Amino acid sequence: MTFLTKLDDATLDARAKPAFGLSQRGRAGLEILGSIQKYSSGQIRPRARAVFEADPEAANLAVEHAADANGTGARARIARARQIADGQPLFRLERFLQRYVAEENFNTGIPAVEERREQFERFMDLPVERAAGGTLELAEVELPKYFEGVEWHLEPGGWDGYDLYGPLFAFGVGPLVFSKGGYAAVGIGDDITEQRVRTVRQFPKPHYARIFEPGCGGATTFRALNTVFPDAELVGCDLSPQLLKNGHKFAERQGLKVHLKQRDAVDTREPDDSFDGIITYALHHELPPKVNAQLFRELFRILKPGGDIVISDPPPFRAVDLFHAVILDWDTRNREEPFFSAVLHSSLDAQLADAGFERVESYPLGQDQYPWITRARKPAA
Ligand SMILES: C[S@@+](CC[C@H](N)C(=O)[O-])C[C@H]1O[C@@H](n2cnc3c(N)ncnc32)[C@H](O)[C@@H]1O
Repeated sequence: MTFLTKLDDATLDARAKPAFGLSQRGRAGLEILGSIQKYSSGQIRPRARAVFEADPEAANLAVEHAADANGTGARARIARARQIADGQPLFRLERFLQRYVAEENFNTGIPAVEERREQFERFMDLPVERAAGGTLELAEVELPKYFEGVEWHLEPGGWDGYDLYGPLFAFGVGPLVFSKGGYAAVGIGDDITEQRVRTVRQFPKPHYARIFEPGCGGATTFRALNTVFPDAELVGCDLSPQLLKNGHKFAERQGLKVHLKQRDAVDTREPDDSFDGIITYALHHELPPKVNAQLFRELFRILKPGGDIVISDPPPFRAVDLFHAVILDWDTRNREEPFFSAVLHSSLDAQLADAGFERVESYPLGQDQYPWITRARKPAA
């Protein structure tokens, strides 16, 4: 849900565009996965939903779920709904295909990149001709316990587990599989590049001088930030050195000036009151709820009084219907997302308010309540 899906003229600056890609065979392997995912979520899932909703017990639970605005009974209800769905062959088939694609993205994608390793290495090592002036600060950071050893989204070795994950997502999985939508919280046919720009537009003011993104990964959100706020100074941090290195190179090639730092987001080491805006994109569902609470306190500290925070993450369980809650919950155990369900049961709104934010509100931007926006303001001094 977080990677480049487009390598076309409108999306990429000429300096960022390579004159090569995967082999035809490599592309075909991934295109099939994209098609399977689209068929599974677009054709099989609606039929699985109809079977689920026709079950009398599931129908009762769905009514209870819709009436429970605070989500207090959600855990037991979703657990029972999952048992009902697991007993239905169409649901199992749809989930089997989702899991198959999630695994095969790497089983098929890594050999496809390896086939062109030399070219990709050369591309990664190319000097940037006209640097944008951004910076990269790498410094050993102790990895939090919850992060270490997790193979996020079934990615072998985790974010830093393979040196060419950057090209794998930019040239393969992004444009050929993820671009079809229909996985995790992303709806079928969703344009995840456009979703990022729409998210940035949720900042309520017309200008922001300095914007920070904790957990910025490969720096993809900065492109959208620069589109909407071309004069803003952009700063980000992440735990993954590889994502930061790729992000730095990619931003520089695009003429996008960003300052990237290897830091734990709960300890940014940024001065108090130093940013006008903060954005987080696809971050909180990867953190245990306790760490989210800690993170919001840190973000409150570095935001200037009157500054705004905008968050895009999957919707909480209370905001989606019961069948979709079962679909989202599935990711926790089956797509290596250890905290997904815990976070979707929690309330980012309440955590922001506890950290001192005011004007907290949350709402969906697209189908299936995704992206789910939560935004708030640090009270003016
Ligand atoms: C799903 S990715 C999203 C990346 C980026 N925001 C995007 O939208 O492309 C989550 C990112 O959060 C980073 N992350 C997780 N825990 C973190 C922490 N405590 N401090 C900084 N980054 C963290 C991961 O390394 C990963 O890059």
